[in-house]
Amino acid sequence: MADLSVKICGIDFKNPIIPASGVFGYGHEYEELFPLEKLGGIATKGTTLHRRTGNIAPRIAETPSGMLNSVGLQNPGIDHFIDKELPYLLGKNLVILANIAGSTTEECVQVAEKLENTDVHMIELNISCPNVKHGGAAFGTSCDLAAEVTKQVRKATSKPLIVKLSPNVTSIAEIAKAVESEGADAVSLINTLLGMRININTGRPILHNNVGGLSGPAVFPVAVRMVWQVANAVNIPVIGMGGVSSGKDAIELMMAGASAVQVGAAIFTDPYAPIKIIDEMNEFLDSKNISSVRDIIGSVKPW
Ligand SMILES: Cc1cc2nc3c(=O)[nH]c(=O)nc-3n(C[C@H](O)[C@H](O)[C@H](O)COP(=O)(O)O)c2cc1C
Repeated sequence: MADLSVKICGIDFKNPIIPASGVFGYGHEYEELFPLEKLGGIATKGTTLHRRTGNIAPRIAETPSGMLNSVGLQNPGIDHFIDKELPYLLGKNLVILANIAGSTTEECVQVAEKLENTDVHMIELNISCPNVKHGGAAFGTSCDLAAEVTKQVRKATSKPLIVKLSPNVTSIAEIAKAVESEGADAVSLINTLLGMRININTGRPILHNNVGGLSGPAVFPVAVRMVWQVANAVNIPVIGMGGVSSGKDAIELMMAGASAVQVGAAIFTDPYAPIKIIDEMNEFLDSKNISSVRDIIGSVKPW
């Protein structure tokens, strides 16, 4: 069996597979299916300062090889997370990435401050949410806004800070460089691609929010391209995600430059997907006589 362990920002992961934020809640439901300890880590549901009920349904639409969602960051708020969810998760032998979000820089800072005195291992700052102070432009679509929120959250936390990037930009590498320069310890990508579907019988968008985020196998080549571009642009670790549904996909994303891989929508079609992906990675590495998964990180040989 190959060595699947990786180290990111000084934190040891027993393997590089992490359920992505928003598809795994806080883990409880999946514990009935397999021991959470089998995972490298968990990225918890995006959590804000106060409880949010999310967007009005319909919030999910099927697409060819993927799905659109406009859940709208439904979550119980950071105090509930710290009091009720985190103690349970910290009892498991795996890395906890607390995914946080906010509508203003100040909210992001306050959420990070609340986590400072907990034992959560890493913070994953989602900068894809709209910044109400800047007319709803997502933090993650402007280098200046992305840099500013990173700078302020960096000051608020001593924990490893992963900034999660939006793919809805002209140059994701430029955004990655901007957050690196303000103290991000790692970046994760990609969040969902903005999309839309219309019910042609009613003439109404399928999602009540009109637009939503595309994820699933349809976005995989975009994720590979963006992970590769970002890994070549920054000197901090890259955590890859977007459409991964097999061990071979995870290997491909790591060859593109990812040090670890998150699995999102695939978990909705097969809740055992992360476990199967870990097994398939092992099989692939053994078949190629590669003793450590670390040897494949960034190993793509571009033409
Ligand atoms: C239903 C759903 C909810 C999501 N919620 C969040 C969230 O709260 N925070 C976040 O950073 N990303 C969220 N995401 C984005 C995923 O973490 C991931 O970046 C994206 O779906 C791409 O990966 P995938 O194609 O493997 O799903 C969500 C995705 C889905 C499908």
